[in-house]
Amino acid sequence: MTENFFPDIPPDLLTALLENPYESMILVDKDGMVRFLSPANEEFYKTTIDRIKGRHILELNPQSELQRVIHTGRAEIGRLIKLQGRDHIIARIPLKDSEGMVIGAVAKLMFVQPQNIRQLMRQVEVLESRLDYYQKELKSLYSKHYTFDNIAGEAKPMQEAKRVAIQAARSDLTVLITGETGTGKEIFANAIHQMSDRRDNPLVRVNCSSIPHELIESELFGYESGAFTGAARQGKPGKFELADKGTIFLDEVGDMPMVMQAKLLRVIQEFEVDRLGGLKPIKLDFRVIAATNQDLQARIREGKFRQDLFYRLNIFHLKTPALRTIREDIPRICYHLLSKFHEGKLSAPKRISPEAMSLLVHYDWSGNVRELQNVLQRAVSISRDRTLYVDHLPMEIQDRLPREQEPRHLPGKLKDEMAIAERQIVERALRITQGNRGQAAQLLGIHRTGLYQKMKRYGLQDYE
Ligand SMILES: Nc1ncnc2c1ncn2[C@@H]1O[C@H](COP(=O)(O)OP(=O)(O)OP(=O)(O)O)[C@@H](O)[C@H]1O
Ligand SMILES: [Mg+2]
Repeated sequence: MTENFFPDIPPDLLTALLENPYESMILVDKDGMVRFLSPANEEFYKTTIDRIKGRHILELNPQSELQRVIHTGRAEIGRLIKLQGRDHIIARIPLKDSEGMVIGAVAKLMFVQPQNIRQLMRQVEVLESRLDYYQKELKSLYSKHYTFDNIAGEAKPMQEAKRVAIQAARSDLTVLITGETGTGKEIFANAIHQMSDRRDNPLVRVNCSSIPHELIESELFGYESGAFTGAARQGKPGKFELADKGTIFLDEVGDMPMVMQAKLLRVIQEFEVDRLGGLKPIKLDFRVIAATNQDLQARIREGKFRQDLFYRLNIFHLKTPALRTIREDIPRICYHLLSKFHEGKLSAPKRISPEAMSLLVHYDWSGNVRELQNVLQRAVSISRDRTLYVDHLPMEIQDRLPREQEPRHLPGKLKDEMAIAERQIVERALRITQGNRGQAAQLLGIHRTGLYQKMKRYGLQDYE
């Protein structure tokens, strides 16, 4: 019969599979009659299959509970039982035909060696206590780093952002944080959570833009065992479940696909999630903080963001200001960042020269505080001094310098400095005349060929 069912598996291989010494298995039919006993079990029950075949399971083991599994049709996995005075882990599995009718059951013993169980339990205990330790450590690290004191800046828009954040932290309402990249949306979200009553529970961050579309649903809502092919056997909780009693931080929410937005809206209105393949919704208690660097109003107009979701998120609206709109705060933020780099490193630079600071204040910072932080980090790593000078800044920032008041740290040779100035003057003339060579030459009071020579010398020959 086995040949018909498994034409690709030779019968001797199947027999070897069933009889392998690591398999401790009893097979009964729907009436509880023993049909198969693996050799490991023959040894255990001190009997042979020939003697027990066709006899009732209770005759073999008066405590057997296999009949219950035949009756309920539900598997019982990982139960602990005592057999002949020793601990065992048992799995009882109903066997069904193609129509789902129970036709028998199998019992498998695992970890027949009790010392294995004890060892496993010990490992679990060690892991649990380590997890507990790391959770506490992480919490104290978080609460130290993510406080409002760690958000530098006191300009008006910054004060306003902090005011809204503190109000939001005292409530349990949804917060929407918007602002350009690198403006501190994530540290604000963390600071709000740390200041809220939920601080002892996790803040779970979901990056809505980096999860592949087809996985968002299972990531957010979780799945039950066997919900789809490839799903892990035990099922998995989603991020919302992990955030139960804490905060869920929906980062880059503006990038969430439309279909998911509808489901998200339902979850944050009902405080219930349905795991994929799950039968019953799970009630949860979470707080939502969402953030995006997208212009959500524009996304709504383009039909890429749901208006109802926007209204549901936009209860507290916190705007993180772009760095170029709070230039007066740049020195303060620079020194805040420098002091952070210092922690533990006494020799790191502590000062920024006035010239370098002036460049930092006037630069356009499209990457905001994150970009400023990177620039300072690089400057600190190349500086041999206690002070950061213009030369420690990247060229693109030095280039923003108005050349007339070039505050270089040390002047170069006169010849080189004159050449720099001359190049700048030629370039300015070309810019003003929109690249018209004749007019530029006239403006500078030199001959056209003279202008061409200078343009060539300074690499401006293709100026348009
Ligand atoms: N006001 C601030 N004071 C101190 N550090 C800041 C401030 N704003 C931002 N930072 C720092 O800049 C970096 C970027 O901040 P964050 O990750 O919060 O930005 P974001 O707005 O979430 O950016 P993105 O949209 O790119 O995700 C972080 O290292 C953060 O600590
Ligand atoms: Mg961010």
